[in-house]
Amino acid sequence: MRYKGNNRTSINNHNISFDDEGPDEAPVIILIHGFPFNKSMWNKQVEVLIENYRVISYDVRGHGKSDPGTDDFSIGLFVDDLIGLMDFLNIQKAMLCGLSMGGYIALNAVENFPKRFNAVILCDTTCTADKPETVEKRTMAIENIEKYGVEQYANESIKNLFALETFITSKEKTIVIKEMIMKTSVQTLSATLLALAARKETCSKLNKIKIPVLILVGEEDKITPPSAATFMHKNIPGSKLHIIEHAAHLSNIENTYEFNEHLMKFVSSINIKPDKFMKRYQVDSFPLDSERASKYEQMERDLNTKILKTTLIIKNKYPELIKYLEEMPDTISTEKDPKITLTVLSSYYESLSSILKKYKSDHPAS
Ligand code: MLT
Repeated sequence: MRYKGNNRTSINNHNISFDDEGPDEAPVIILIHGFPFNKSMWNKQVEVLIENYRVISYDVRGHGKSDPGTDDFSIGLFVDDLIGLMDFLNIQKAMLCGLSMGGYIALNAVENFPKRFNAVILCDTTCTADKPETVEKRTMAIENIEKYGVEQYANESIKNLFALETFITSKEKTIVIKEMIMKTSVQTLSATLLALAARKETCSKLNKIKIPVLILVGEEDKITPPSAATFMHKNIPGSKLHIIEHAAHLSNIENTYEFNEHLMKFVSSINIKPDKFMKRYQVDSFPLDSERASKYEQMERDLNTKILKTTLIIKNKYPELIKYLEEMPDTISTEKDPKITLTVLSSYYESLSSILKKYKSDHPAS
């Protein structure tokens, strides 16, 4: 029996809140959120995944609508909860996608239960344990939360979570995350900070990972920076790495368009069960109702903003690349079909940014 939609069940002596959406027979993907957020941080990924995948998102113990239970928090306990949830839902094997703390859980789960997963997506995360100074910061944070309350902690946290650009262009995203942090209890904040500080490294086991791995990281992530992602990429055989521009630690929220592009390309390349539910991901597979049409418009605006920014960078800093700007397709302004417009804009943006990226890596001093 399938528990479709939002549900609760008891796993390892605590009530866990989860969403189970998408077609019954489709390949399964499980999304694990970061600290101290909840499953709603994946809303924009669930929206695109549920067409072709059975998508499970859940609140890690103590977060969102899941109870904390009575056990001491640890990454090992979080992994046991994940496996317990998979058993409860009768899921033998799944793709796993975790951001930051979700990535620590994913790496630990793949290390200890390799047979239960067929691909993993590691977002803005690291395989290292905390350095002594990070442990010290977490201890201070626990004291400060008790002294000054959660709002101050939330205000301090969002400064590190987002790129400066996000505060300017999408302030509403920072407000949603601040509210998520403020809804987390003091007990869960403290217990999870202790669990994160005590976690073990998983770097020494990376070369044993035998399933496809995608690594995504925000270009400006200060908490788990691109260097941490690059390290994992170098040590996980066959892994793919993409650095997401215009994003810091919450790359799935700050640059949803690029994040989803990489996520969807990767999951559709995993040949789990080529059955009738596995349509290949493509922008024009959406029927164009009014809600979708407004999403297209938003995606188009986002793409145009990115093209404009890249164009300005080229004009101001790399005039030798101006010749490539002339290749901007002139169909865009007159094109009436939003799906075609998006496809054209997206491929233009991709080619422009890859030209720029290549030029920068060929001319490091420029
Ligand atoms: C997260 O987003 O899960 C946290 O930044 C993880 C951490 O503090 O190590």
